[in-house]
Order: sequence, then C-alpha cells, then structure tokens
Amino acid sequence: MALLCCFSIGAAADDGDLPPTGRSRFDYLIGNAPVPYPLSRLIARIRSQLEASGDGLSPFKITLIPLGRSLRRSVAAPDFFHYPSVVAAVDGNSKAGYTPLHDQLFLGYNERAESVEIISYNEQAGRFEFQVVRDYRAGAQPKTYYASRALCLACHQNNAPIFSRPLWDETPANPAIASRLKATGRDFYGIPLSGTDISSAIDAAAERANMFQVWLQIWREACSNACRAQWLDAALAYAMSGNLPEADELKFADLEMRWTKIWPQGLSIPGSSIPNRDPFANVVEPHIKSNAVLSHPLAELAQLAYIPAQFEPLNPRPPLQRWTTPDKTRLVAGLAGLLNKADVQAFDQALVTHTKAQPQTLSLPCRFTRKPGRVVFNCATPDVQLSGVFQSTGSNLSGQIDRLQEGRAKTALDLTLSGRMTKAGQIELIPKRGASWARLSDGRRWSRLQLDTLRADQGSATLTLIDDYAAVRSVLPRLPLMTASIFDGSRALAELQAALGMDKREVLTRETLANKLPPAKLEIVAPRKLSGSATRFLQYCGPCHGSTTNFPPNFLHGDDATVNARLDHCAERIFYRLSMWHVAEAKRGKTTMPPTPALAAYGFDETSWASSAPLADLIEAARQRIVNQGGQPDAVLTRSFEQLRSCLPATIQ
Ligand code: HEC
Ligand code: HEC
Repeated sequence: MALLCCFSIGAAADDGDLPPTGRSRFDYLIGNAPVPYPLSRLIARIRSQLEASGDGLSPFKITLIPLGRSLRRSVAAPDFFHYPSVVAAVDGNSKAGYTPLHDQLFLGYNERAESVEIISYNEQAGRFEFQVVRDYRAGAQPKTYYASRALCLACHQNNAPIFSRPLWDETPANPAIASRLKATGRDFYGIPLSGTDISSAIDAAAERANMFQVWLQIWREACSNACRAQWLDAALAYAMSGNLPEADELKFADLEMRWTKIWPQGLSIPGSSIPNRDPFANVVEPHIKSNAVLSHPLAELAQLAYIPAQFEPLNPRPPLQRWTTPDKTRLVAGLAGLLNKADVQAFDQALVTHTKAQPQTLSLPCRFTRKPGRVVFNCATPDVQLSGVFQSTGSNLSGQIDRLQEGRAKTALDLTLSGRMTKAGQIELIPKRGASWARLSDGRRWSRLQLDTLRADQGSATLTLIDDYAAVRSVLPRLPLMTASIFDGSRALAELQAALGMDKREVLTRETLANKLPPAKLEIVAPRKLSGSATRFLQYCGPCHGSTTNFPPNFLHGDDATVNARLDHCAERIFYRLSMWHVAEAKRGKTTMPPTPALAAYGFDETSWASSAPLADLIEAARQRIVNQGGQPDAVLTRSFEQLRSCLPATIQ
C-alpha cells in the first residue's frame, strides 16, 4: 500500500513530486481512459503492447510476494498468503507505435490496499516517476497520483526500482512460499507461481533501470559536447548493428581526464539490491518449517512478517561500487538501452530509403564445403573474413553467417540470409537482422552478398557495403541535444531525423499525446493547524506519517484532537524508534525514525541529527506523552518492539 501525503504546516506538498517536465511512461500507457481493473485486465493491456521476447518467457515478468518489505508489507495481515503483493517489470520491447516500456515500467500491487504503486521512466525529465493508483477496486473510478518522493525514496534510495538479491526467498522461488500460496487455491489474477527465472529477470531489469541515472549523470557532468556526440554515435551504431565495438576503438573526447577531476574518489554507483530475506529463516517451530500447509496461527504469522533491522530497506545503502575510470563499452551499451527499439528500427529503415551513399564492393576468394542439404562457405582476404552457410528451400535460398569482419568492424551473428540463384548461376543473398538491415559495428550497412561458385569447392564472394551511417555521424555534433543536460533517447532520434531532412514520424507524437493526457496530480490533503508537540511531529514525520492510508501508520492524519490522540496511542513506539538514534547501529532492534535517507531533506546528516535539538525535543515530547498516560518511558526500551502498544488504535488498523 502506498500513500501520499501532506505536508501541511511549514511546507507545501513538494513540487518535486510532480514531473518537472514530460510525463511518466505509465501516463502514456494509460492515456485518458481509466486504469483497467481488475489487475488481470491491466496485465493484458500491457502484454498486448509488447513484442514476444527471445527468452521464451513473457516480456512482462510478474511474481508474488506474500511477506515482503515494501509499503504493502502489512496491508494483507493476517491473510498474507491469500493476498500476496504482485511485483512486475517489463523487460521486453514494445510494438511499433506503443509507449516504450523496456526496463521502464514497474508495478507493485496488493488487492487489500486497493492501490497500485508504479515506478516508470520519464525520459524528458531523465528520472523515474513514483505514482500510485488509488480506489483500485470493483465499482470505483481509479485515480492516479504522483506520490510523495520523500516517502518512496526512503527505501528506493537509488531513485529507481529495488529488488532483493538472489535467492529471492520472499518469492515463490522459495518452495515454502510457493506451497503456502498454492494451498490457498487462489489463481492470483492468472499469475503462475514462478521460480528463480522470473525473479532473476525482474532483478536484472531493476539493475538496468538503476543504471539510467548513472548514464545521465555522466552525460550531464563529465561528457563534453564532443564526447556526447561520440558516445551517441557509438551507442546508435551498436543499437543498429547489434555489435559492440572493442573498448580501444571507442573515443570519448577528454572524458577520462574530466572523470578523474570531477570524481577523484571515483563515481559512486548506487545499488538496486536489498539483502535476500527468507521469512522462514528464523521460524523455529518444526511444523512451520516444513512445507505442510497450516491454518496460520496469528503468532506464527507475526513472526513470519517480522522484519529484523538488518533486512529493513529503510537502512541507508552505501554505493555499490566506485568507478575510477569510465568503462567505455558499458557506457555505450548503457546509452543504447535508452534508445527505443522501435524508433531505432524506423530510423534504420528511413536511413536506407533516404540517404544516397556510394556502394562499396569487396571481393574475396571462397572455399565451399558441401554437406547434406547445405553449403558452408569460408571466404577471406587478409582484411576481410566471412563465413556462413546456406541451403535451398524450394526455389529460395536461406542461410546464416558465423562471421563477418572487415578490419575491426564486425556484424552481429544473429543475421539471416535470404535470396535466390540467378539464371547465370550466381547466388544472391540479402542479409537482414530481424526486421532491420544488417550493419557493421561502425554503422555501415551490408546490403548484399553474392556468391559465385567457379568449381564445386571454390569461388568468390562479393559484398556490398553502403556507408549511409556517415551522414549520421556528420550531423550528430550539431544536434541541439548535444548541449542539453538531459539525455533523452526519443529526442535524439527525432533531432537526427530532422537534421537529415527525414520525416519526423511518430517519435515526436509524444508531445502531441502529452497535450491530451489528464493533468498530473498530487494527492493533496487540506492544510491543518495542530497544537503542542504535534506541530513538531508534523514537521519531521509528516511527509510519511500523515497520509490517508495506514501504512506507515498515519498518526498525523486528521484534525488536531485526532492527531493528538493518535500520537498518544503511538507514543511508546515513537519513543522507541526515536531512541534508536542513541543506540549503536548493530544493537538496534528496529531502524531509526526518521529513516536516515530522509534526513538530508531536513538539512541533517546522521551525526548532526543524533545530537540535534529537534531530536531531543521530539524524544522529550514522546516521553511526556507516555508519562501523562501513566507509563514508564525507560521500561519501553527494555521490551521488544513488537510487544509495545500498537501504533494505531485497533479500530483503524
Ligand atoms: C519501506 C520501504 C519502501 C517504501 C517507503 C516504498 N517502497 Fe516500493 N518497494 C519496497 C521494496 C522492498 C520493494 C521490492 C519488492 C517488494 O517487496 O515489493 C518495493 C517494490 C516496489 C515496486 C515494484 C518494483 C520494484 O521496485 O521492485 C514499486 C512499483 C514500488 N515499490 C513503488 C513504490 C512507491 C510509488 C513508493 C512511494 C509511495 C514506494 N514504493 C515506497 C520498499 C519500499
Ligand atoms: C521518509 C519517510 C518517513 C519519515 C520522514 C518518518 N517515518 Fe516513521 N516510518 C516510515 C516507514 C516506511 C515505516 C514502516 C517501516 C518500519 O516500521 O520501519 C515507519 C515506521 C514508523 C514507526 C513504527 C510504526 C509501527 O506500527 O510499528 C514509528 C513509531 C515511526 N515510524 C515514527 C516516526 C516518527 C516519530 C517520525 C518523525 C520524527 C517518523 N517516523 C518519520 C517512514 C518514515
């Protein structure tokens, strides 16, 4: 479950929660219609827009997490296995004409929360947007809001999706989870119980998505205009050819020099991974360890749902790595990942029909080896190597290649050859790569292959290469995008097409579509006036604890009297969590509040906050509330957190 919130006194809802420019992929996906309900319809809508993926799995990967660590963690209690959370990621390409979603759309859903959490990319703003769909239930009109980033980023510290490391023991990849889900007899919106393959694909998509900000940061901070043109050149050539050049062939003007100047300690790479957690790890009862299905006694479920401090995603995560020098091939592959496949394909096609470049032919001697039903060819000069195979299917010929290399330029190996035998006995083949033309890693198009057999086992090959990509390379440095601080893949291709005098095609329909979208909205809560210490709690806890939904507990929601009553009710837990600031990290039963990642927004770091006046004030206010109710603050810290009075009164939990 997620929520939005409500700074009311002192701070207005942060403008940064709305996209500074552009819209999220989810907004484009949904358009003006209501978000399809139930979930199975939303899933079907997304799937219908995706191309089949090469891994034999659906390009929309979905798993179930009954006992997770997200904002949805407690909403289904105690029916965790009946109402597991659904977590999903798109890792395949969209069909032409549809919003690109590859690594750019992630969902989290829980039926009990009646809401869907969305993380999706905004390529114009160069950031992931955090949204939530509310009133997602039968008979209601779902509403989509941009969420409080302060809340989301407390766990999504990388500004992107997060996922557990292997072995993904919160998912059905863990047999104990799978068997309990199965025992409920539910069909879970048509989502099959999956193993490590699906979890690992979601994890990989989250890791790639996590790197977007790194590519954008390098583009913005370290890459000069000349470097940007070279980077985009290599990335586009890679996207079009499918072949990554060797690192030593890549030039990034002055990048290395600037890199060490800007990041003397190395560039920090944030991580998307949180530690693997097996909810059954600390469960001692032998019967619950077994895969036997239980009626779930509440105490056992509480134990399964319990999240020890070291597994809490609110814990600050140090950078995953520091890159002291640019890894050029990764940079090229990374930027290519921000170019949309359908746009690249259309561009490839447009380049072929539009540019006139002089064909270049290469002839090389060949050896032919006849095998049953096929002919293997090996052709070479000192500079060029070509090998492959062809066979005849009726009057047509088809084939594959094992290698084409000219100098240091290569093609990908997933090329197909198709053609025929001419009357003169020549074999004419057209190489293609899926729906696209075959290209070398330097962008040149390989348009034709002619094979002549002089004798049964000898002959020659004539290759036709066309350097239509040279036109691309020459206009790249002049694109307005080269001086822009945000790399935007669609814009790159649209500007290229304009610079080459081609039709702008649908790459720019984004702007036209955006005008038709309903306005981006925040879930606004009316400003309130609170009295006494409630004011201070609102200031430091409001961004996350003042929403209309009750996880995290919304003790700051409501009018003055309600809030003060709720603060009293939660006082023990508040006191405990605030006091954790004075307990050594390894000894904390629970994470501190506010969570460390939220401190920067208040102008503190861990050390300055621990000894700050506002923290002392808040602790004192919580202490007073416990004392006023006849309790003993010091005794609170000797008890286990789970035994303390629940934060919200039972009636509103
Ligand atoms: C208390 C920590 C926490 C907070 C706060 C949080 N999330 Fe998450 N979120 C997680 C964790 C952990 C996962 C990983 C898988 C799971 O358990 O759902 C996750 C998963 C997700 C996913 C699925 C894709 C992914 O990242 O794996 C979406 C979408 C999502 N969260 C959206 C949001 C939004 C929107 C907000 C703010 C309203 C938010 N989250 C706040 C912890 C959190
Ligand atoms: C950036 C978001 C954020 C801010 C700011 C924040 N919290 Fe939290 N808080 C959470 C989340 C998420 C949880 C649930 C996960 C957990 O219990 O660790 C939580 C849990 C709690 C709990 C435990 C509730 C329960 O039912 O066990 C208490 C108490 C709490 N917070 C108090 C505070 C106080 C007091 C402040 C302000 C001084 C504060 N929090 C500020 C996000 C926040």
